[in-house]
Parts: sequence; structure tokens; C-alpha cells
Amino acid sequence: MADFFAQPPGTDPPPERTAYINARLLDPGSNLDAVGGLLTERRRIVDLGPNLFRDGVPEGIKVVDCAGHCLAPGLIDMHVHLREPGHEHKETIASGSRAAAAGGVTTMACMPNTDPVIDDIALVQFIERRARETAIVRVHPIAAITKGLQGERLTEIGMLAEAGAVAFSDDGLPVSNSLVMRRALSYSTAFGALMVQHAEDHALSASGCMNDGEIATRLGLPGIPNASEVIMVERDIRLVQNTGGRYHVAHISTVEAVNAVRRAKKRGLPVSCEAAPHHFALNENAVGDYLTFAKMAPPLRDETSRSAIVAGLKDGTIDTIATDHAPHDQESKRLPFEHAANGIVGLETMLPLSLELYHRGEMGLLEVLAKMTVNPARLLNLPEGRLAKGAPADMVVFDIDVPWRVDVSSFHSKSKNSPFDGRPVQGRVLRTVVGGRTVYRRDA
Ligand code: DOR
Repeated sequence: MADFFAQPPGTDPPPERTAYINARLLDPGSNLDAVGGLLTERRRIVDLGPNLFRDGVPEGIKVVDCAGHCLAPGLIDMHVHLREPGHEHKETIASGSRAAAAGGVTTMACMPNTDPVIDDIALVQFIERRARETAIVRVHPIAAITKGLQGERLTEIGMLAEAGAVAFSDDGLPVSNSLVMRRALSYSTAFGALMVQHAEDHALSASGCMNDGEIATRLGLPGIPNASEVIMVERDIRLVQNTGGRYHVAHISTVEAVNAVRRAKKRGLPVSCEAAPHHFALNENAVGDYLTFAKMAPPLRDETSRSAIVAGLKDGTIDTIATDHAPHDQESKRLPFEHAANGIVGLETMLPLSLELYHRGEMGLLEVLAKMTVNPARLLNLPEGRLAKGAPADMVVFDIDVPWRVDVSSFHSKSKNSPFDGRPVQGRVLRTVVGGRTVYRRDA
């Protein structure tokens, strides 16, 4: 079994026309779930539907037979750490893009906690240039809210947005100072920029390394209480109310914060949030015997919070699923639990872990896919994430049922820090298409 990857740059001319036949077309944006065909011409989708190619494919068009498998918009992961520049031994834009392609992710937004921090135009341009030269999927930078992630001076939000930053975040760190956050939200309204908060009250959480509670006590580890997250979310919601800025909670993890966002949405405030697969696929029990692969910020929570994440996804409180792909090398993880780095890789397990919600009957298939396609596209103002005439030809073909086991040794990411090694899952990516060009294919 060999995996095919296209070569960068992704600006190669895509094939003139390609017909995807025998596909289960899934488009959450238009509620489409039907067997049919789809036609791409160069970089765009030009036609699709149940009747397309019913009488065969005209000559001269390349044919991809989907053999009854699912054809959906390529996944959009709005929360990825790509470690370039600065920590290329953990991940580069190139290696991260291969991991993304293998996971069915055609667009990712990368966080600015690199070294140097993405906090000025030159860095935004650097990411865009490296993406053009080395990536096989689309990469959009998220710029820092404050210079150097120091939480003090705002970055040039308007200029950075104009240069291509799709959102703003100090992720990895919260914007703790209320005045700074108010200014960021207020200033962002002039540009419609999205402020993504790593919601954590550091005074409550900084000394902790796992969820606060019985298990932490038993393991003798300092805990991070749920209050640390919800205090920051509640404060920010007040500031949104004052300013009208667009606000998004990154990797939401607690029942209290989900409830706070639900209330804010009911009041019509421009508040959204995302959940990472590990926060609905695992709870704090995964820490087990000090497993550092189950250490991340925010931490895995208790079962009440885990099920609140599922409920939040289901009722629309949680808009998107995003991985918080956080590659770390062995040296950063093979340490006593308290000293190990936070984070896990996620790009290559995003789809099967999210499909668990569908396979368990907790959510409809289109509902689950919407969280990784049309919803993040709307939040980031991107034209991708849809199967529609004229839309970019970014797609994923996947077998929805095939059972397999996650095997970190087969990951294409440079880092293997995943607590999901050996987990039995269902659903696998067969082909990933970006701008009409197949960038990944799994050959059975
Ligand atoms: O677990 C995490 N890892 N959470 C973050 O917010 C940052 C990330 C990282 O950069 O490693």
C-alpha cells in the first residue's frame, strides 16, 4: 500500500477537465447527499448532481471513479501549529501540508506562535511564500493579536488582514489584559477581523498541567480548573457586547464555557467557537499513568464536559471542529508529566475521530462535515468548503465505513505525539484534491 503525494508547488496547471463519477456527493452548505457526478475544469467545480454523467462521460475528460465512496468539500482546519519558522524539526509548512493532505484537509489556518512570531507583514508574507513554494494544500496565516505574543501592544490588525491574515490570535497564550482585549475587539470591527482567544485565566491555571479533580489529586498533579476557561470567555463576551468585535473561542473544553457561548449566541452576539477532536473523543481518564501524549492546553476534561462538547456541536453552539495540531518531538514529550510540552498532532486523525460522532448516531453526517467545511469557511471568509458550481475544486474522497487502526508510525507529520495510536476507527481518506489537482491518493 503506497501513498501518492503531488509535488509542490501547487501552482502546477491542474488537468483541463476531470469527471468524478459514482460518488456519494455530500455538500453540507446546500444539504446535498445524493449519488451522482461532479465535473471540475482547471481549478474550479463547474457542474455536479445526480444526473451528471448518467449517460457516460464524454471523450477527452479524465475520469475518477469514486466507486460509491463519499465526495465532500475538502476539510478546513482553522487551528494548526506549523512550527515554521523556528522549530522546523517538529514540523514544516511542507510536512504539515502532507499530513493535511493525507487527512483530507485542503485548507489550514496556521497559528502565529512560531519563532519569530507572525506579528508583522513580513512574516505573513513569509508564510504565504513558503506555502506557495512548499505546500500541497492551502495555508493561511493567523497573525498575532499582540506583538511577540506579549499581551501588551496590539499588532497592525488592518494591515495584517490586508496582507492575508485570515484571523488573529495569541494562541498558546491568552490575551489576559482586559484593556488590550477590548482594544483588539474594538479595532477589529473596522476590518471585520476575527479575534481568536485561547481562553485561560493564567492566575488560575498556570501551575496546573491536567484537569483539576479527583484524578489529578490521585496522580499528585496540579490541576487546571474549568473556571480558568469560563472566566476568560465570560469576560470576553462582556467586551464583545461593548465593542461589537467578532470573537471566537479556540479549543473550547468545558461545560461552563459552552453554556456561556450558547447564551451569548442567543443574545445575537458575534461569538463563535471551535472544539478539537480530542476534547470530544477523550476525557481526562486518557492521562492514565502520566501519559504525556494526553497532555495539552486546555487539558482533557471530565466526562460531563466531554459530553457537553458533543451537545454543543449538535445544537450549533460549537461552530467548527479544528484540530489544534500541535507537533512536538520526543524530547519535548519524554519528560515528567509536569514538564512535558502541551499538545498533540491532529491532522491525520481529524476525519475518522469526527466521524465517530456520526457512527455513534450522535450527529448526522452533513452536520459533522459542516463543522469542517462550510462553517470554518464562513468564519474565515474563504470561498472554499462547498461543492458548488464555481467553487474552488477542493475535495476529499473517503470511505466512510472501512475500519482501521490509527498507527502513528505511518503519520506523514514530522511528529508522532498522538494519544490515539492503536485506536480502532472507521472511515478513511482515499483522495484529496486541491484546486482541481489530486495532491494525495491512497492506493488500495
Ligand atoms: O496544547 C497546546 N499546544 N495548546 C496550545 O494552545 C498551544 C499548542 C502548541 O503550540 O504546542
